[in-house]
Amino acid sequence: MNVQRTLVLCKPDAVQRGLVGRIVSRFEEKGLKIVGLKMLRVDEPLAQSHYQEHVRKPFFSELVAFITSSPIVALAIEGPNAVEAVRGLMGVTNPQNAAPGTIRGDWGMNLTKNLVHGSDSLASAERELGLFFSEGEIHNYSLSLEAWL
Ligand code: RTP
Ligand code: MG
Repeated sequence: MNVQRTLVLCKPDAVQRGLVGRIVSRFEEKGLKIVGLKMLRVDEPLAQSHYQEHVRKPFFSELVAFITSSPIVALAIEGPNAVEAVRGLMGVTNPQNAAPGTIRGDWGMNLTKNLVHGSDSLASAERELGLFFSEGEIHNYSLSLEAWL
């Protein structure tokens, strides 16, 4: 079993719309394990590092303005192929094209305000987890249900 850890951000729109609980439930109900969770306000330097791959894109400033506009909730999520599993539950980038049953497909309308971020590869996950969590904030533990998932 290829157990991975990945970063999920419930973006400012998710917090403002009161959808954090339902978003977190999607990951829990799938059988993924939450190993870290915190609310924080992303500042400009963190936003720039997090979105460094998009620095030359025309939407970069909009992206940084949005992610810094209000608190977010960051999650470290663990499970078999967690990177891909999380991206599947989120749905494609543009909520208007995201399938019903996904987070973006069910609750999103807007390309910028698309509710969640999920790391797009194992390398990104490792880098991004390091930006949002210190070692002591990520927890190693077993779930008693693990044998049934
Ligand atoms: P994310 O990083 O948030 O998980 O989303 P993603 O991998 O599906 O999409 P990505 O290509 O990494 O883009 C990062 C975020 O930028 C916004 N975006 N705006 N205006 C535009 O053309 C545009 N394209 C992308 C989206 O909010 C996307 O989540
Ligand atoms: Mg991305």
